[in-house]
Amino acid sequence: MENIAWGELPFGYFKTDYNVRAYYRNGKWGEMEISSSETINIHMAATALHYGQEAFEGLKAFRGKDGKIRLFRWEENAKRMRRSAQGIMMAHVPDDLFYKAISTAITLNERFVPPYGTGASLYLRPLLFGSGPQVGVKPANEYMFLVFVAPVGPYFKEGFKPVDIQLVRDFDRAAPLGTGHIKVGGNYAASMLPADRAHKEGYASVLFLDAKEKKYIDEAGPANFFGIKGKTYVTPDSGTILPSITNMSLRQIAKDIGLNVDLRPIAATELDTFDEVGACGTAAIITPIGRIFDRSENKTYEYAKDGKVGPFSKKLYDTLVGIQLGDIEDKHNWNTIVE
Ligand code: PLP
Ligand code: COI
Repeated sequence: MENIAWGELPFGYFKTDYNVRAYYRNGKWGEMEISSSETINIHMAATALHYGQEAFEGLKAFRGKDGKIRLFRWEENAKRMRRSAQGIMMAHVPDDLFYKAISTAITLNERFVPPYGTGASLYLRPLLFGSGPQVGVKPANEYMFLVFVAPVGPYFKEGFKPVDIQLVRDFDRAAPLGTGHIKVGGNYAASMLPADRAHKEGYASVLFLDAKEKKYIDEAGPANFFGIKGKTYVTPDSGTILPSITNMSLRQIAKDIGLNVDLRPIAATELDTFDEVGACGTAAIITPIGRIFDRSENKTYEYAKDGKVGPFSKKLYDTLVGIQLGDIEDKHNWNTIVE
């Protein structure tokens, strides 16, 4: 095994041995290529650089107690990348190319798949962008698809401990009818300024409201928001958040453990009625939220008293992670074993 402090890995870039690439030219995808270079050659007029024709995905592979590597719900990421491509007029990546690229990136970097029991996993970052030149605002004729991997630990340094977040009203992440529902780089650029301010003010992340009415809870930084009210899992129904594959899975797990599931707009005024709240996503897994500070209204909502994680958040977390690691029966067939 590698000499890596697996249990101390942050969520971040980590140099591995290989990445894989494919190019879309003259209306079709070429053969996948393997590279050990960390850089790419890009045309100075590439549409990705000028007009934000870029989308990415994020998914994880886990090593089980049995030594097998399990990939969680990759088909959903492939589907979402197609929706992102369609939303900003890029060439689509077919499922077979998507799977070949991610599975090759895993097997070639097998020595970087963290051992079972370390809390770390292998994060996969598929990336698709317009590589062909344009100066007019038009889609490129050429695209590049690339997958790199990195062994990672928890996104929030607190791990599975409650974090404090800041509700912001003076920034929007995404516009109604804009690109909030797809995974394109511009959404993340728009979130950096409020996130940076929140960090400087001592908060782990931000909570955005809907841009139109400034009334409903939208995205929780790079993750979806959920709350537990009695025996109900509540999560926003919003056209401007990313449909999270983790959240989709948690809604199923919630039903499996006997909770009701409510997918609906959640008014910010409801924040004081939840028993537990959290953020969920591939990187965030479930990150319990201890406190939400409404920056403009100078109002604080407290959960997770004394730093204790709520019982349903814990059960949801344990079940999700248990399935991903192969410790709990994968009855919905979410895992693909990579051989
Ligand atoms: N929302 C945003 C803005 C994200 O970047 C992510 C991460 O992918 C999520 C939600 C969670 O989505 P998923 O669970 O599919 O990773
Ligand atoms: C993910 O959870 O995969 C994300 O996209 C979060 C962030 C690192 C962009």
